[in-house]
Amino acid sequence: MVTSGGNRIVRDDYQCLPSGAFMSSDLRTSTSIVLFGPPGAGKGTQAGNISVATGKPQVSTGDMLRAAVKEGTQLGIEAKGYMDAGLLVPDSIIIGLISERMLQDDASGGVLFDGFPRTIAQAEELSKITDVSLVIMIEVPDEDIVERIVGRRMDPQTGEIYHVKFKPAPSDVSSRLIQRKDDTEDTVRSRLDAYHLQTKPLSEWYIEASKETQLRVISVDGSGGIDQVSELIEKELGR
Ligand code: AP5
Ligand code: MG
Repeated sequence: MVTSGGNRIVRDDYQCLPSGAFMSSDLRTSTSIVLFGPPGAGKGTQAGNISVATGKPQVSTGDMLRAAVKEGTQLGIEAKGYMDAGLLVPDSIIIGLISERMLQDDASGGVLFDGFPRTIAQAEELSKITDVSLVIMIEVPDEDIVERIVGRRMDPQTGEIYHVKFKPAPSDVSSRLIQRKDDTEDTVRSRLDAYHLQTKPLSEWYIEASKETQLRVISVDGSGGIDQVSELIEKELGR
């Protein structure tokens, strides 16, 4: 393999994606990818395409926690109060959840983390479990976040994410849509506070790490429309 400019790879090593775009073959190794960004940045919305492009299953700690709350497990009972208040669930709970998830067969080739890690302590623990080769940061200003969060609707049958204005659901689906309990204006402000205080410092931590390792960190402007952001990410994956 001929490389140029750090870990960039020459065109010969690229593989064709289903969409026709190209992706560097080093993303098909057993390393994991971190999808990073504030609440409502579009992590869940973009994860599907990235998962298809890289072959890595999406692992969303938010989805796992909501499933545990729904099932009424001990972990769900412990996590619920934090989630409803827009606070981060303690690191010990999250690390336990991820450690167990990474033992499953489909995680052996690396995964696409969505909403994890969210603290430096989580990132340090993660580095003991799996190598991270790519961090995709979706940047969206706070002023856009509230409208995205308050207007979000979910299809409980398919898990598809919609928005009343930016991605309306088809009419045959709209009657069964639900709204997340933490998608209120008050709670989103607490979630944004938690993001700035506890999660945002992790972006600098990863940028620093990328200076000394093969880790690649890419920053994507997430303030455009959904398709526009998808295109930016697809372009970056092809570099
Ligand atoms: P989690 O479920 O991860 O929530 P989050 O990080 O707050 O992120 P969201 O899921 O709200 O946003 P998203 O970026 O996925 O946006 P989406 O694509 O849906 O976590 C929930 C809670 O669990 C946390 O608050 C915490 O308590 C706990 N938790 C989870 N992980 C944890 C961890 N690691 N450590 C500790 N605690 C943890 O898009 C949002 C809306 O915008 C949608 O309606 C969508 O249609 C729309 N949209 C998306 N992109 C665009 C666009 N480009 N233009 C216009 N609209 C758009
Ligand atoms: Mg999400």
